[in-house]
Amino acid sequence: MKKTSINLIILFAVLCIFGCNKKENQSKTHSESMKNIQVSDYGVTSKGDSIKKYTLTNKNGMKLEVINFGGIITSLTAPDKNGKYQDVVLGFTKPEDYFNGNPYYFGALIGRYGNRIANAKFTLEGKTFNIDKNDGPNSLHGGKEGFHTKFWNIEQIKEAQFPTLKLTYTSADGEEGFPGTLTTTVLYTLTDDNALEISYEAETDKPTVVNLTQHSYFNLSGNFTKEITDHELQINGDQFLPVNETLIPTGEQKAVKGTPFDFTVSKTIGKDINADDDQLKKGKGYDHNWILNGNGLRSIAKVYHPESGRVMEVLTDEPGVQFYSGNFLDGKYETKTGGKNGTRTGFCLETQHFPDSPNQPSFPSTELKPGQKYQSKTIYKFSVKK
Ligand code: BGC
Repeated sequence: MKKTSINLIILFAVLCIFGCNKKENQSKTHSESMKNIQVSDYGVTSKGDSIKKYTLTNKNGMKLEVINFGGIITSLTAPDKNGKYQDVVLGFTKPEDYFNGNPYYFGALIGRYGNRIANAKFTLEGKTFNIDKNDGPNSLHGGKEGFHTKFWNIEQIKEAQFPTLKLTYTSADGEEGFPGTLTTTVLYTLTDDNALEISYEAETDKPTVVNLTQHSYFNLSGNFTKEITDHELQINGDQFLPVNETLIPTGEQKAVKGTPFDFTVSKTIGKDINADDDQLKKGKGYDHNWILNGNGLRSIAKVYHPESGRVMEVLTDEPGVQFYSGNFLDGKYETKTGGKNGTRTGFCLETQHFPDSPNQPSFPSTELKPGQKYQSKTIYKFSVKK
């Protein structure tokens, strides 16, 4: 045999061994990410749907629990400065409280339109649509039977690098008054760098409006009876949207500078929350949309809880974030750590398009047409500061 042929054979053999090894490693990663998802029975709804709970665990032992009702996150743990993992999202202790109303939208996927639409109506291509009026004169979070009340199909993504769930829900044409059959897919991934990644996609068969978000309430202290006013918050937004009495944006895009809404430099949530300010009175605290600086997937907010050392960073490609300081939590329910869920015991950072966009032409559009794909991504990443 010629020397070159021998060399070629050796090269081929080396490549083959390398290839086989790579395949083996890949399948190990896949089966490991599968192993890191446990499924258990969660409860049965009044409609007779049997609900499952999916527990995702990453290599550090961080856990995410999700149910196929409302795509709800029922638990998410994060480490403190001593490495102790504790649940950091508010939730109910009884499954029925999620199934029968979930008045605070704890942990839920929100759609098809997160936040408020004024007077529960909008006009699209010359046609007016009346949608469910469930918040005074307005429509909130997709109506009473929004996506937070729906049964979502859940699959585990076997080929994903990290434990990943794919949730799917098809909303019928006319559901809660919205036009178009909307197919929505949401991916929840728990990465090894302690991040929860949420990717949304949706498609429609008629022109419609879409604004999807996640409604987890965070309390980084791990004690759900403690107010979140001691958490330090920074938001990369130089402007916010002032609201009217029913929390609909007036249309003004106001500079935060010199107002209690200035979180451009980190400060505690409690620092100015009780200031004598007309906007804070309207929201009974913070319940407003910030216009985020920049665009594309970027870091938009950071929260630090000094006592525990926990840090949560939020990244999104959305133009806005609703910072809600849990003003309407009213102590009616038992928390997962005992005691009652009093006011301001959790905060939300709901990444989204602006409220009432379908009625406010100066806001970025939330319209989705057939043939277009709605896509959006948000990451909640946890770390510690000592
Ligand atoms: C809204 C609040 C509302 C809450 C319901 C938030 O997204 O901004 O006004 O009360 O959801 O839990």
